[in-house]
Amino acid sequence: MSKIHDFDVLIIGSGAAGLSLGLKLADQAKVAILSKNKLSEGSTSWAQGGIAAVLDNRDTTDSHIKDTMIAGAGLCHLDTVTFVVENARKSIDWLVNQGVSFTKESKVKKDVFVDGDYHLTKEGGHSFRRVIHATDATGQEVQQSLETRAKKHPNITLFENHMTVDLISNQKSDPKKRRCVGAYVFDTKHNRIDVFRAKATVLATGGASRVYLYTSNPDGSTGDGIAMAWRFGCRVANMEFNQFHPTCLYHPETRTFLLTEALRGEGAYLRLPDGERFMGRFDDRLELAPRDIVARAIDHEMKRLGIDCVYLDISHKNKKFIIEHFPTIYNRCLSLGYDLTKQPIPVVPAAHYTCGGVMANNSGQTDISNLYAIGEVAHTGLHGANRMASNSLLECLVYADAAAKNILSHLKKEKLFDKIKPWDESRVMDSDEDVVVAHNWSELRHFMWDYVGIVRTTRRLERAARRVHMLASEIREYYSNFRVTPDLLELRNLVEVADLIIRSALSRTESRGLHYMLDYPDTDPLMEGRDTILKPPRMPSDK
Ligand code: FAD
Ligand code: SIN
Repeated sequence: MSKIHDFDVLIIGSGAAGLSLGLKLADQAKVAILSKNKLSEGSTSWAQGGIAAVLDNRDTTDSHIKDTMIAGAGLCHLDTVTFVVENARKSIDWLVNQGVSFTKESKVKKDVFVDGDYHLTKEGGHSFRRVIHATDATGQEVQQSLETRAKKHPNITLFENHMTVDLISNQKSDPKKRRCVGAYVFDTKHNRIDVFRAKATVLATGGASRVYLYTSNPDGSTGDGIAMAWRFGCRVANMEFNQFHPTCLYHPETRTFLLTEALRGEGAYLRLPDGERFMGRFDDRLELAPRDIVARAIDHEMKRLGIDCVYLDISHKNKKFIIEHFPTIYNRCLSLGYDLTKQPIPVVPAAHYTCGGVMANNSGQTDISNLYAIGEVAHTGLHGANRMASNSLLECLVYADAAAKNILSHLKKEKLFDKIKPWDESRVMDSDEDVVVAHNWSELRHFMWDYVGIVRTTRRLERAARRVHMLASEIREYYSNFRVTPDLLELRNLVEVADLIIRSALSRTESRGLHYMLDYPDTDPLMEGRDTILKPPRMPSDK
């Protein structure tokens, strides 16, 4: 029997963005936080390098702003970048207050080791050491600390295994009167669809990198929030800019595992199989050029030489330093037969981060009243055409704070909507052909990798567009005839997101940042500052 759950605020997502927001609201509001599987299965737990913030007195916010703008290749919004960078130190202080323990320098004072200031590392695009971290497992530390706090707060209810299917509106098709009043949520343990009613609903659902065959992301990065917001009538922007991380472990028998950019920040080299350090042929900043440049250089060398991978080599650095700073990576590599302190490690690029997303303002508000989007699901203007390393967790924290303030300022005026219809399953039956879903998942991720990857052409994109339209119509038919399953819901969302990526990519007839077109190899100065904004075709009324 389906249930109705009532809350002041419904937060869909339990990563850095969702948990931070929940904690910031909970003293004044009753909050539900949903996770479609376990609480800690989002990208946040997997974050390695750290969080960018100006914490050293010799560094400046101007420099952090300038570096972000340069990495973003002419599409970052200066007001957003300034807003985020200026709120970074406050966000780090807040995390420390939540119990997050960052790595400190060990200093020797009077012959004893004591903790000094925080150790700051460096990553691509940053002209200063400004990445605060917890060894090479920053995300794990942040996720666990926030989860511990959230579990203790009496006003927060955490729902694991609750997958949102779609948002619910007040049944107005006029966008000015339309507002979000909650969501239909699949309780996957009890196999039923519940209604969550709320005065404000927040998408904190993370990114969509699983649309690609090879990704550094966990399985849940299927762009659910972007697809739901799009179906609900929100604009999305800059979906062509999917970031590929240059250095994921290449090992045919294990799933993709990231080797943090902080390794290069601490001096690791990129080498070809013959040992050549090749980045000098592509960029003066060598291994610490922005990610788009490094990933493209690796892709170029792999295709030129017909090789399966290149190599990341930090073996020339002090062994104790490597093991102390990168214990997770060291142990993981060792378990697969590679010793980071002694040998170069095989690496390849993989899809890593969704720079575009649901358009949100500096309070996290979307186009539809009472619906917010924060974290990787959102497009705020911070990342432009290429996100600078470690600016993402920072964005989650800054926007959680801004959205909390905005939501609390409205909450007293809002009422729960009392005309929500229960989920209707009267016309569907159990699927008799799960193979369709499995086949389409695989087909989608293969052609996205081959045709919409690091290097694109108009013909490849058009080919991908034809295939995605075919898959979309099959999925539509499947969705209307069969009872939903988590795989079907994720596939439906991925196909929606793939379509948005391809359409955005086709409309950008230039190369800029992460979007590289062989038939338009130059940057078009007329497109400077011009986001790719897709408007939904109609505002559905949910009727
Ligand atoms: P996530 O942490 O991904 O959480 C998404 C949540 O939404 C999950 O709880 C999920 O269950 C839930 N969800 C999704 N769909 C639904 C649905 N339909 N219904 C209910 N719940 C749903 N960034 C940095 O700044 N620094 C780093 O060092 C760094 N390293 C990284 C390393 C790796 C390997 C990866 C993959 C990413 C890294 N990033 C890093 C990026 C960063 O981790 C993410 O951008 C960030 O954690 C996103 O946080 P989030 O809260 O927006 O989403
Ligand atoms: C990394 O540690 O290399 C990932 C950092 C990021 O994605 O911001």
